[in-house]
Amino acid sequence: MNVLTALDPSADYSKTQLQLILGAWVLSGAVDRKRAISVTNGDVPEGDYAKQSIYSLFYSLYRSMGDVPSDSGERYELTFNTWGYAWPSSWGPSPVSLTDPQRFGKHAYTGLYQFEAVREYVAARGGKVHVVEMGCGTGGGAHHVCKEVLPDCTYEAVDMQKAAIETCLRKFVPELGGRLKATWSDATQLTIEDGVADFVAVNETHVTEQAGRATDEDRRFFATAHRMLKPGGYLVWGNAIPDSTWQPCFELLESLGMKQIEVRDVTPEAVVARDEDKGRVDAYVRHCIETFYGFRIPFLGDKRRLEAEFAMKNFYRNPGTNLYDNMTNGTDTYKVVLFQKPALA
Ligand SMILES: C[S@@+](CC[C@H](N)C(=O)[O-])C[C@H]1O[C@@H](n2cnc3c(N)ncnc32)[C@H](O)[C@@H]1O
Repeated sequence: MNVLTALDPSADYSKTQLQLILGAWVLSGAVDRKRAISVTNGDVPEGDYAKQSIYSLFYSLYRSMGDVPSDSGERYELTFNTWGYAWPSSWGPSPVSLTDPQRFGKHAYTGLYQFEAVREYVAARGGKVHVVEMGCGTGGGAHHVCKEVLPDCTYEAVDMQKAAIETCLRKFVPELGGRLKATWSDATQLTIEDGVADFVAVNETHVTEQAGRATDEDRRFFATAHRMLKPGGYLVWGNAIPDSTWQPCFELLESLGMKQIEVRDVTPEAVVARDEDKGRVDAYVRHCIETFYGFRIPFLGDKRRLEAEFAMKNFYRNPGTNLYDNMTNGTDTYKVVLFQKPALA
């Protein structure tokens, strides 16, 4: 069993199934010839993992863990699969409580709509705008935006992971009285009609990851975003990705007919967020490891426990990991980007 490649994005694994899957992974440590996960910085080389498998594991895990205490004792269900950033002081006071365990993710979603041009667009429509989000995860961000940022919007949240959409349907959709729709689909194959969205939102969606180039998947992804936007509508996009990938993506967007309006670099604030979030991440990883019995198997359990800890912490860009270092040394940068589909003449 290789949890990095073999899990199914159309599954929503139960806790019992996860016990068996992780137990099998621990036992397979007896025959593994090389480690795919570095136990010095958590790095997993490209090609040794499939994002479909990793997110399938994570979203089933988050649901199975349910409410857990953060390092400061606040109980929460992990629904923001987001690094996020500390709220930039030049943007005014933080819009989220300083004790909220998922505040950095909430900042990231709030920040997508912080641009002056966006505020004017929303105000001109009395707040009645339609958002399509590509790669919404559990919909924690969609829920936050519907409640706190665009309280009169309608919102369609899309993700390729069934388990994430199931969480959105359970936890967020019912509360919003028909304003939030959750759709399970690969965002590059969406059948949503052309020209319906005032905003297409992309928040830390796992695309545009290849250093120095835009891939075929990236092209299909952004072509879909462009297709779904109304003329005059906006793509709002935030992520930490290889710095060398931004320019090829900007060129790709321009080749599709999109116009760059503003680019904000929040990398320093993203590093602060990872520093301040370390206690919560450490506590969450510890809860997960303690929950799954496989990690108690003598010898093999210890080996896999170390790999699981490093891999999860690297995924969260925790201090001491490869992805954290990439953000402090400028290999990866966190930007919040606004592009517009020009209005019809
Ligand atoms: C780091 S998570 C971020 C999730 C969410 N936006 C958040 O901030 O909590 C990346 C997400 O991108 C989704 N994703 C990646 N490629 C996708 C695609 N082609 N179509 C739909 N979702 C995709 C993954 O399933 C995963 O939920």
